[in-house]
Amino acid sequence: MNPNQALWEKGDFTRISATMRESGEALVSQLGIEKGMKVLDLGCGDGTTALPAAKLGADVLGVDIAQNLVDAGNRRAQQAGLANCRFQQGDATDLHHLPDHSFDLVVSIFGAMFAPKPQEVAKEMVRVTRPGGRIVMGNWIPGDPTLVAQILKISSGYTPPPPEGFVSPMTWGVEKQVIERFAAAGVPPEKISFSKETFTFNSPGTPSAVLDDFRNYYGPTMNAFEAAEKNGRAAALQKELEDLFTSQNKSPSKDTTSIPAAYLRVVVHL
Ligand SMILES: C[S@@+](CC[C@H](N)C(=O)[O-])C[C@H]1O[C@@H](n2cnc3c(N)ncnc32)[C@H](O)[C@@H]1O
Repeated sequence: MNPNQALWEKGDFTRISATMRESGEALVSQLGIEKGMKVLDLGCGDGTTALPAAKLGADVLGVDIAQNLVDAGNRRAQQAGLANCRFQQGDATDLHHLPDHSFDLVVSIFGAMFAPKPQEVAKEMVRVTRPGGRIVMGNWIPGDPTLVAQILKISSGYTPPPPEGFVSPMTWGVEKQVIERFAAAGVPPEKISFSKETFTFNSPGTPSAVLDDFRNYYGPTMNAFEAAEKNGRAAALQKELEDLFTSQNKSPSKDTTSIPAAYLRVVVHL
């Protein structure tokens, strides 16, 4: 199986996305979505941004490489009575089933950044967006001191080095790289703007319980623990991550969790 697909089908990302709903909705409310707009949510997971976009009246297609998340998204859309929101499996590096210029807006929030071959991803996002349309990406920022960049950084200390030629997803959080990728897809730099924004992970449980969900259900963290267990370092990884989750928690109560994380918002006007 495609290792990218295996990674995201491995756990159950719906356990993590349950903590992301408020920020997903807030983000979508800022995108100027209008009734009837054709929206592609790429790397959509179970619809944290797709469902709010459909609630605003857009005609939304969610595409994700993980079949379990596509199924979960379709279930959520059905439960919400959103006939204008559907999900299908697909790979951001090759969207051949989608015609050229077919969307007004392509959104990818912490989604397409995780696909291999970033150059192909940029090309495909540009191809399926209509002239005058927009691409909006949310990308975690390498080296940032907040939650997700730190989870990935800490985890990398416990996992074997990636294979040669591997391009880190975090490179999508570097403006220069983003400009280069879109330039190679025919988009000049003046069409691209950047802003640093915040996405908050909220849970009624403790930071430790949220970490448990990452350990048991989030593919990249599951892999880090598997690697750490092999050389007897799982307890050390658990401790580093516990310290991280606890110290980043901004909730007034220690029994609930609210952890803000910085990301790079990329807007491309075609
Ligand atoms: C961190 S999750 C974010 C999901 C969703 N956008 C959200 O905000 O909840 C990353 C998502 O990207 C998807 N993904 C990873 N590689 C992909 C690829 N090559 N093509 C499409 N989706 C991909 C994963 O399956 C997963 O659902």
